[in-house]
Amino acid sequence: MTPARMAAIHAAAFAGHGQIWAEAEIAAMLAKPLIHAVTLGQEGFALLQIIPPEAELLTIAISPDAQGKGHGRALMASVMAQARIGGGRRLFLEVAADNQAALALYTSAQFIQTGKRRGYYQRTGGVAVDAITFGCDLSA
Ligand SMILES: CC(C)(COP(=O)(O)OP(=O)(O)OC[C@H]1O[C@@H](n2cnc3c(N)ncnc32)[C@H](O)[C@@H]1OP(=O)(O)O)[C@@H](O)C(=O)NCCC(=O)NCCS
Repeated sequence: MTPARMAAIHAAAFAGHGQIWAEAEIAAMLAKPLIHAVTLGQEGFALLQIIPPEAELLTIAISPDAQGKGHGRALMASVMAQARIGGGRRLFLEVAADNQAALALYTSAQFIQTGKRRGYYQRTGGVAVDAITFGCDLSA
């Protein structure tokens, strides 16, 4: 999948609730050896940073017209497999406390909440939303 397609999915998926990553930003991230793209056809992608024994999910997005059909769960399974292959033993991520779909996805993928960052995300209009941090044991 090209960085342009990733940027298009990211912009559509995060429209109105999150920082949009431009094509050039995504391309710059992918040029780093520690960052890996995990894709699901042309409908979804994730960016994963692996620094063994830890891995961090930097973003995950499914195209809005393909959401709610199990693609996010399938992509997360690929992310976890890729993290293991790269030497990751723990996978971390953070998510906005009002992102119900993502919270459901991570809970169903056996992530455990590890902390909370109060007011971490600034929404338009000055509203601040907490970040929830999650971790998952990849050796289980
Ligand atoms: C989060 C996201 C990747 C999930 O992908 P998806 O393909 O829609 O999710 P799935 O169909 O695989 O469903 C995964 C779980 O989430 C639940 N879910 C999906 N959409 C939901 C919604 N709108 N509200 C509540 N739960 C939802 C499903 O019921 C399922 O739970 P289950 O495993 O207990 O049955 C997708 O919604 C997305 O791209 N959102 C915008 C970007 C984003 O927020 N990324 C995460 C940032 S941390």
